[in-house]
Amino acid sequence: MKRFIRSAVPATFLFCLLASVLVGSAGAELTDVEELGKLLFFDTNLSTPPGQSCAACHGPETAFAGPDSEINAHGAVYPGAVHVRFGNRKPPTAAYASFSPDFHYDEDEGLYVGGSFWDGRALNVVEQAKGPFLNRVEQNNPNMKVVINKIKHSDYAMLFQDIYGYGIFMDIEQAYQYMAEAIGAYEASEEVNPFSSKYDAYLAGETDLTEQEMRGLNLFEGQAMCSACHPSQPAEDGTPPLFTDFTYDNLGVPKNPENPWYDMPPAFNPDREDWIDLGLGGFLDDPAEYGKMKVPTLRNVGARPYEGFVQAFTHNGFFKSLRDVVDFYNTRDVADWPPPEYPENVNDEELGDLGLSDQDVDDIVAFLFTLTDGWSEDGYFAQPVVPGSAGEIRLDLGAVYPNPFRTTAQIEIRLQRPSRVEVAVHDLNGRLVRRLTGDRSLGAGLHRLVWDGTDDAGRNVPAGVYFTRIASGAEHEVQRVHLVR
Ligand code: HEC
Ligand code: HEC
Repeated sequence: MKRFIRSAVPATFLFCLLASVLVGSAGAELTDVEELGKLLFFDTNLSTPPGQSCAACHGPETAFAGPDSEINAHGAVYPGAVHVRFGNRKPPTAAYASFSPDFHYDEDEGLYVGGSFWDGRALNVVEQAKGPFLNRVEQNNPNMKVVINKIKHSDYAMLFQDIYGYGIFMDIEQAYQYMAEAIGAYEASEEVNPFSSKYDAYLAGETDLTEQEMRGLNLFEGQAMCSACHPSQPAEDGTPPLFTDFTYDNLGVPKNPENPWYDMPPAFNPDREDWIDLGLGGFLDDPAEYGKMKVPTLRNVGARPYEGFVQAFTHNGFFKSLRDVVDFYNTRDVADWPPPEYPENVNDEELGDLGLSDQDVDDIVAFLFTLTDGWSEDGYFAQPVVPGSAGEIRLDLGAVYPNPFRTTAQIEIRLQRPSRVEVAVHDLNGRLVRRLTGDRSLGAGLHRLVWDGTDDAGRNVPAGVYFTRIASGAEHEVQRVHLVR
């Protein structure tokens, strides 16, 4: 399994981090608690065995959704820290998830609203963050004490104590609670929820949508009825649209036959291939709610780190492209789709036979691509074409810190063996912006490179999203980096 992000934090970064705690540096992108949450989120040591961080399944290069094209292309369920163990659902994005209200029953609407996970079983993202570390099919730590001990011996133990008090590690339960709160704070930060899509710029009157995107928006809010569940207009209090009303529905999505959960031993999955995901109803033990899944945000549904990257959509990753998803809404009841995973309670009011033309479907997809963060006048993130052919990857392009960055970004690369490599920065259109190494030999181990936001001619490049790319022969790996000015 390749990993883009590791926990190794450059000493200089940590120094700045601690310095900013002490002096309260005004330029800091994240508050201290958010920064701590970020370190926890990306710490690959917080699993048993070590190696898996939250980012393994919520990668920043895919806007905190599933970052592995190969996995998305098939079962769409990610292996745990113990690599033969799988859960049963596709990771939703962890971005914008913090906006979900606490799980509750809305008496007026007669509906369940909010919560975290596809089935709402966690009250909110703070409660959610307590789960993966102890989940046997995820980070697999035996108990809270093991997690807290790892944090106690981490590079950021000081920061944790600075914020929550010395001696905090003695109170395991309280420390675990604070850990979850810090992760929740990072997930609620501007870095994770930048509201920087083209559509946001359009709502702010800073840019126009193309004719096609505009047609897509009109269909989204009109004939296709998407905005009935994925609201596209700002809330009354001014919150930009989150593209989910945080309610639950059974769309009749078919089973994903490649879901690895079906092959898990009976100790984990007694039902084997007959297992049915009951969603909200399974959590509530209420047949009236069986098969219902939380409406996901549509922000960043188009975010891909490179062309050809396969995404997976809906709770089980049955769909592999946005076009497939919209086709399903359009033709579920009139074309030849496999039967629903759970046939009762299927919504037959707002979807199934929308009467959209092929052109309409394309237009809606074009609109969905305007919801990708990191947009700027200079580039449209939807088609980040990065040259080179994907192959067996043995290179590891590690963390880029800080990200987003203002002056310099540190790029870490780890090589399993001495290799000839080329590291470069590309823009959204795949154009080479800056060669960082030329084509040269580097030894095995960890290397750090710095990009100062200039191009090969030494000129400052405009703010926006760029890609750092490391290539060796036919292998390459790419990571997204956001420059702000
Ligand atoms: C092995 C893969 C994996 C790891 C590791 C993992 N997650 Fe998840 N995450 C998932 C899956 C799968 C779901 C959906 C599970 C469900 O609905 O039952 C999920 C759901 C979530 C959600 C809910 C989003 C929403 O809109 O409901 C958040 C937030 C989240 N994860 C954050 C985290 C954090 C924080 C960590 C680290 C402590 C983490 N995840 C570790 C796979 C993973
Ligand atoms: C009745 C409410 C409802 C309507 C109307 C609706 N959706 Fe959804 N949407 C959902 C739910 C619920 C899911 C998750 C279903 C599941 O996982 O089984 C979903 C999932 C999605 C996903 C997958 C996102 C992801 O992260 O996996 C996309 C994309 C999407 N919808 C787009 C649309 C578009 C485009 C339209 C209009 C053509 C639309 N939706 C109309 C409720 C709705």
